[in-house]
Amino acid sequence: MSKTVSGFSKLNKLEKIDWLVSTYFNNENKVKQILMQYWNSNPVLQDLHDDFIENTISNFYLPFGIAPNFVINGKDYTIPMAIEESSVVAAASLVAKFWSTRGGFKAEVISSVKIGQVHFMYEGDITELQNYFLSKKQQLLKVTESITQNMRNRGGGILDIELRDKTIDLENYYQLHVTFETADSMGANFINSCLEAIANEFQKEDIQIVMSILSNYVPNCIVRAEVSCPVSQLSDDASIDSKEFAEKFVNAIKIAEIEPYRAVTHNKGIMNGIDAVIVATGNDFRAVAAGVHAYASKNGSYSSLSHAKIENDIFTFWIDVPLAIGTIGGLTTLHPLVKFSLEMLGKPSAEELMKIVAVTGLAQNFAAVRSLTTTGIQQGHMKMHIMNILNQHSATKEEKIKVLDFFKDNTISHSLVVDYLEQLRN
Ligand code: MEV
Repeated sequence: MSKTVSGFSKLNKLEKIDWLVSTYFNNENKVKQILMQYWNSNPVLQDLHDDFIENTISNFYLPFGIAPNFVINGKDYTIPMAIEESSVVAAASLVAKFWSTRGGFKAEVISSVKIGQVHFMYEGDITELQNYFLSKKQQLLKVTESITQNMRNRGGGILDIELRDKTIDLENYYQLHVTFETADSMGANFINSCLEAIANEFQKEDIQIVMSILSNYVPNCIVRAEVSCPVSQLSDDASIDSKEFAEKFVNAIKIAEIEPYRAVTHNKGIMNGIDAVIVATGNDFRAVAAGVHAYASKNGSYSSLSHAKIENDIFTFWIDVPLAIGTIGGLTTLHPLVKFSLEMLGKPSAEELMKIVAVTGLAQNFAAVRSLTTTGIQQGHMKMHIMNILNQHSATKEEKIKVLDFFKDNTISHSLVVDYLEQLRN
């Protein structure tokens, strides 16, 4: 039977589910039960979610957790995190507490410039193109005035438009490279609208506009987060020597700086923190991830986003990360949990949110590298993962308490947990 369908988007939700059941499943009731148990009982809220995308048939839950005790530039925060990985929120909370007694995190926005480009082909004389561009430049700004009005009132707008010759890389290829300040919004729609207006005004018969689109590579939209303390204060565990730990930690970071296989995993740990806050605050995690990983390769080889040093017996650990994010527009006013997250953070500006996100990434990285260079990652990871194993085996509340108690002081592995559970049941 063919599985293609036409006019699908015009069907209502139940009709879509009926099509799905008849095409891919044979147990209608079970499928409906799975999908419908995640429908929100409040029809207004469900309609809102239905309308976010096309062909919504249910909601896909992620745990929404909070990590308290973050101190950033002297201010206290409880950070919202939407993520499924068991150990991430626990690690962020532990590290937040640890650094809160060592001066907290410092963070600063280094730059906040966003970029968009009109890509075009031109076969003629380059001097003529340059003259044409110069004669048009003011007009290009003028045609965007109605679009940029609100943004200019908020302190943003178009910073500059440059003509770039890219013919060395691709025959006849040029760009209008446009820089933007987008204040508290991520600005994707704003940038793309400006670019399309600019392209429209710029085009003529010997210029072929190929496309106009923002870039998610934002190497001039950078935030730095940092922690530091005397080396002697770096361990809070009597069995771990501070100096040896500090040296091992710095070596682990140096390895991630020069070894791409390690750097990717190292940065993945950073993204555990970054993505969780990005999702909870309604920002575009794909855009952030694409920009972050491109930035990690900016010197020609994929490298660590974080760095560490010991100087004059002071341990310093920091991260520079590109983050084009917003606290107004997009999902920020639509999704109730996003609104809640931003309120919990004290309705931050985009720059303040950049700092919060970078700090969470750094905290996550500290937690991972600390475990890796001391106890090993599995101890903490399995402690949190144990609940997933218990749920997989439908453990009751009483069984969970007994198993958690037993494994408090015993090595955890999937099979040991299952064996112990069976032992209890017998
Ligand atoms: C797991 O989600 C993240 C880590 O692999 C990060 C790292 O290795 O630094 C633990």
